[in-house]
Amino acid sequence: LLNTQLSFSQFEPNYDESKIPNFDIPDPLTTFDGQKITRKGQWKRIRRPELYTFFEENVYGKIPAEFNDFSAKILEQGENAINGKAKRRQVELSFDRNGRTLHFTMLIYLPKNVKKAPLFLGYNFLGNHTVADDENILISEAWARNSDKYGISGNKFTSATRGIRTNRWAIEEIIDAGFGLATIYYGEVDPDKDDFTDGVHSLLYSQGQQKPNDNEWGSLAAWAWGYSRAMDYFEKSKDINSSKVVVFGHSRLGKAALWAGATDERFAAVISNDSGCGGAALSKRKVGETVGRINESFPHWFSGNFKAYNNNEEALPIDQHELLALIAPRPLYVASAQEDQWADPKGEFLSAHYASEVYKLFKKDGIATDEMPMTNQPIPNTLAYHIRTGIHDVTDYDWEQYIQWAQKQL
Ligand code: GCU
Repeated sequence: LLNTQLSFSQFEPNYDESKIPNFDIPDPLTTFDGQKITRKGQWKRIRRPELYTFFEENVYGKIPAEFNDFSAKILEQGENAINGKAKRRQVELSFDRNGRTLHFTMLIYLPKNVKKAPLFLGYNFLGNHTVADDENILISEAWARNSDKYGISGNKFTSATRGIRTNRWAIEEIIDAGFGLATIYYGEVDPDKDDFTDGVHSLLYSQGQQKPNDNEWGSLAAWAWGYSRAMDYFEKSKDINSSKVVVFGHSRLGKAALWAGATDERFAAVISNDSGCGGAALSKRKVGETVGRINESFPHWFSGNFKAYNNNEEALPIDQHELLALIAPRPLYVASAQEDQWADPKGEFLSAHYASEVYKLFKKDGIATDEMPMTNQPIPNTLAYHIRTGIHDVTDYDWEQYIQWAQKQL
């Protein structure tokens, strides 16, 4: 039986469909006490709030206080970026509380030929200076994870890594499509390590507090909070159409994008790229990464309360399709990659399928079938899905689908 002393990494991950435990998919349209939801009003008034509260208290964790006052300072701007097609702005948002300050810098490219541009918003993993070949991008001074692969040492980024992630950001295609792109180094909002003395959490502690309480926010909720503050800034920007912002994220940042979409209904659309466990993938299948594994490897990502489900997914009264449903009826794109079995593509697909019941209530098209599509055969509905060939990554193929879909949906 459940032995929380065991190290979960001692369990081999399962990839065998025949070894998936039997479980019932929690019905998004039946309340925790058994009431059937048949109308939009009931969803909004009764079911959505109870699901939301469950995810907030038991999965990602609650933000202890409202915290959205900041000052914005333009650090740099240019009129001739991305082959002359875009303007660039680098803006620092600063937050003060408890005698501490948090800053993060957003890099924004906007198409020159659009007055008020819709945009994609997404965090990057390795610093703003990695997303484009642009010498003007400021290099973050925040904590960076050392990496032999990328030549990062001393926990600092340097110009040696300029442009190394351009492959993950189809910026020119985004600009050509009339969209802007805003990106932030996620480590400026909360460094991705099991340390709660840094990042945004520490600004909201009560006296003597060292870490969030068990029902309070981990790092994923902190990153989602940062996405919302970027939205606050867009609402004040004359050249950005804040009613058409698509929040995007890959992998752990896809988990954060989904939670941002759920917590902040100002986001017009959401894209989850290979978000996997604790993102789009169903937890109860226990394929690839499991709740126990993720909480062991990344104890700081979720709330303390989520640890109660380590190797105990069957006790969850919800599953991740209900996180997707919290985004309804807004456009949502769930994408997987064939070689990314750790993220359980089938579990991501089925999650989109089961969330579609709620989209249906709003007369929106989701994923009607429970048969996975072929690779590279997108289902570009309001709730969209694709599985492409290749590894855990963000590719031009992914962006091509997202751009076309966003143009149609917004
Ligand atoms: C690890 C982690 C995943 C996460 C991924 C990423 O593989 O187990 O949950 O999505 O990192 O962020 O790339």
